[in-house]
Amino acid sequence: MKLLFLGDLVGRTGRTIVIDQLPALVEEQQLDFVVVNGENSASGFGITEAILQDVLDAGADVVTTGNHVWDQRDTLVYIERQDRLLRPVNYPKGTPGRGAHLYTARNGAQVMVANVMGRVYMDALDDPFAAIERVVNECPLGDVADAVIIDVHAEATSEKQAMGHMLDGRVSLVVGTHTHVPTADHQILPGGTAYMTDAGMCGCYDSVLGMDKEEPVNRFQRKIPGNRFTPATGDATISGVAVETDDRTGLALRVAPVRIGGHLEPVLPDFWAA
Ligand SMILES: [Fe+2]
Ligand SMILES: [Fe+2]
Repeated sequence: MKLLFLGDLVGRTGRTIVIDQLPALVEEQQLDFVVVNGENSASGFGITEAILQDVLDAGADVVTTGNHVWDQRDTLVYIERQDRLLRPVNYPKGTPGRGAHLYTARNGAQVMVANVMGRVYMDALDDPFAAIERVVNECPLGDVADAVIIDVHAEATSEKQAMGHMLDGRVSLVVGTHTHVPTADHQILPGGTAYMTDAGMCGCYDSVLGMDKEEPVNRFQRKIPGNRFTPATGDATISGVAVETDDRTGLALRVAPVRIGGHLEPVLPDFWAA
């Protein structure tokens, strides 16, 4: 299967480039399944139901989130009827929505996607390792699921790497989100799981984490909050990771970063159609 995962969409800048370009990518690259992290798509803070629908209509099969999931208050309500929107699975029992689900891909394959949040330098949710163990064990790769994709929304590289190694050989892809900067460590782990510490963001990289740079610089220099953070509106880049899996085992055959648009060096997988 051909999978694509895109990192955090930041504001109108990030969602516009994804909504404009994803339909052609899905078509040209014959992508079977696409996951997009949408936690910053509404002016940098959370996701509205209308934006969710636009991203799904553009070709995303599932939208994951993270610590910003509840920034738009009605997400607590509409997430109950939107099973293609995931919040971290390790929120306490009783939290609205779901953190993992099994979906049918365009090619008819069954794909399990789970979203989990780290606890190092972040809000202390339930144990992310135990929570992921539970959902992965319920949905074995190569048996119930043809592919399994895990979005680890975390600050600490060590926590994401540990999650990758814990799941190695049992899922197709472990990819990090939240830091908004793509890492250069994409690889297939010894057991056959594709891994990348952070997918990067879809947004403007002439910024601080996708936000207009003036206010963050001001806050670091002066320690006095001034204006609100607003998404940067310069050239946008799509950033993520592409994976090809073995249809028999669901494990990864190839993994490569994807970067399109903006002023960063463009990167396309060599196993993609030219
Ligand atoms: Fe984010
Ligand atoms: Fe985040």
